[in-house]
Amino acid sequence: MSGVRAVITGTGSYAPSRVMTNDDFAAYLETNDSWIRERTGIRERRIAAEEESTSDLAVMASTKALAAAGLSPSDLDGILLATATPDILFPSTACLVQARLGASRAFAFDLNAVCSGFVYGLTVAKSMVESGAASKLLVVGSEVMSRSLDWSDRGTAILFGDGAGAVVVEASSVARRGLETFRVRADGRYWEMIHVPGGGARKTGEPPTIRMKGGETFKMAVRQLQESVEEVLAASGVSASEISLLVPHQANIRIIEALSARLGLPAEKVMVNIDRYGNTSAASIPVALDEAVRAGRVREGERVLLTAFGAGVTWGSGLLTWEADLQKRSRA
Ligand code: UT7
Repeated sequence: MSGVRAVITGTGSYAPSRVMTNDDFAAYLETNDSWIRERTGIRERRIAAEEESTSDLAVMASTKALAAAGLSPSDLDGILLATATPDILFPSTACLVQARLGASRAFAFDLNAVCSGFVYGLTVAKSMVESGAASKLLVVGSEVMSRSLDWSDRGTAILFGDGAGAVVVEASSVARRGLETFRVRADGRYWEMIHVPGGGARKTGEPPTIRMKGGETFKMAVRQLQESVEEVLAASGVSASEISLLVPHQANIRIIEALSARLGLPAEKVMVNIDRYGNTSAASIPVALDEAVRAGRVREGERVLLTAFGAGVTWGSGLLTWEADLQKRSRA
């Protein structure tokens, strides 16, 4: 294999403007703000407008990521869009985004690994770049979870929100590490743990809304996330103390705290924004990464660890070194 590495050169995110607070749920459901905050860490989430859908959110986030990378849509070789809430069953939301951006040279496809979708997407992007199959890719996580909720189920409705995040991944001959070690996994035996029973080709007679076994999911998420980050760190020969920022999937603050404690990472090395967005599934990590980058919490040469767990069940982690400036300078 060539010495080409895959690096992230730009990030972007977008969240719909409508804010839904915990009190908005308490107004019609048997729940309250303190229960939701204490058990999940969520204070509010964003909800897409009637006319907004997954591709609209994705276009907004992608435009910002391209601007940050200093590229135009026509530079892209491909678009990988992770979503569990596509605009329509087919064609892919990625194709709708490709048309809207005018990324005329880019292939486009969706990838569904639910909350792990963005880590899966980066894993595929890294492989494509390192193999020479592509040199400039857009990897997007975009979700309108609010359209898949049973609004009368307090165990799930309060957890999810809408949003989109995107990154540009480029081939680099100057990066030292870039997207370093990525590992993704699945165990479909647990497909019922979190699922949407209706809306697909199987005639279930069930509605297209999320069902989740919360307690079991919680325990499995804690266990698999720990194993997953330890696997990636061991494969890279990197210790947790060398991580500058952990960007975990934002499903529950207690899951994030358990993982951080296990890794011995203090709060300032852990990106948390679940309080403002809830769980945005595949969008969760790219939104958090974009906010961290724009807040100056990710500096050139630092190591960032991403980790996610979600329906499938699926999980995965990725270790990267932030080398955006190095790559952009080499282009100049
Ligand atoms: O992104 C994919 C990954 N997803 C996750 O990782 C989600 C993982 N699961 C969780 O985050 C948590 O399990 C929940 C937040 C969903 C639930 O928290 P919990 O501490 O596991 O609560 P529980 O399910 O054990 O329920 C405890 C009690 C129950 O009442 P009883 O049976 O003890 O009377 C629930 O009915 O809390 C009740 N409850 C609520 N009470 C007020 C459940 N939801 C609510 C609510 N408000 N919204």
